[in-house]
Amino acid sequence: MNTNMVLITEKEFKQISTLLYKNFGINLTDKKQTLVRGRLNKIIRTKGYNTFTNYYNAIQADKSGMLQIELADHLSTNHSYFFRENEHFKYLTINTFPEIERLNILKDPSELRMWCAGCAAGEEPYTLAILLKEYFGNKLIGTKPVILATDISTTALSTAKSGIYTEDKLKSMPAKYLDKYFNKIGDGKYSVKTSLRNLILFKRLNLMRDTFPFKNKFHIIFCRNVMIYFDKETRETLISKYHRDLTDNGILFIGHSETIGRNSSQFKYIIPAVYRKIG
Ligand SMILES: C[S@@+](CC[C@H](N)C(=O)[O-])C[C@H]1O[C@@H](n2cnc3c(N)ncnc32)[C@H](O)[C@@H]1O
Repeated sequence: MNTNMVLITEKEFKQISTLLYKNFGINLTDKKQTLVRGRLNKIIRTKGYNTFTNYYNAIQADKSGMLQIELADHLSTNHSYFFRENEHFKYLTINTFPEIERLNILKDPSELRMWCAGCAAGEEPYTLAILLKEYFGNKLIGTKPVILATDISTTALSTAKSGIYTEDKLKSMPAKYLDKYFNKIGDGKYSVKTSLRNLILFKRLNLMRDTFPFKNKFHIIFCRNVMIYFDKETRETLISKYHRDLTDNGILFIGHSETIGRNSSQFKYIIPAVYRKIG
């Protein structure tokens, strides 16, 4: 054992997992104990708390809630990449966008409302913005955002807002889109063009909130690879909230390793991990 390691007892680990589950829905299973203990140790030492008790007391005393957010930030997984699970993006372009046009659901494409819940560092919403631009072209006028992209992680959101990515991060980006929608800014980095950036509104939002603060419903919701960290009850509650926040016949995309029961009374299965709102 590394002698610099801060000792975290089973009871203390339980205190942290209860707090994360209650406030953020994050379910720290026993399998993740080693990983979580390592990350907790790093926070406690780098922030100079020295003991778990000092750290936990500081979290409890912090009325702003920022220490809890920072903790969730360190313990959640922000892994994502551009064009991840590409079948969904093909479905969107081949089926969903044409259907929206055919049914005259919108007066113009700027009225489209998409929500990317759990957007990590922006890879998913920027992929969506590219597809919107490719499909609707000049019909997508104005600078009004059409995608709301939310996450709990302030670190991931700050990268997303900056729109700056390394070459390595952009490996999965088709070359034609890299040329068209990014500027090379040197140091092996690229910056998203303003025309794409303006289509997205980034906000911090905890999906565990009792209600979401939206006045209008969404035509399309993406919540992929987020619910894998939640238990069944939390997932079901969230899916009901998505049902409420979608327009009639609205489409919900979840991750390929996630599922909504095929007997759900709220959603009809379309293709793997894509569902249509019923009712
Ligand atoms: C693995 S990433 C998925 C990113 C992207 N949707 C994708 O499929 O590539 C999961 C994201 O969910 C976010 N997340 C986890 N719990 C959350 C919560 N309670 N509220 C909001 N976002 C949360 C994490 O911060 C992380 O960025």
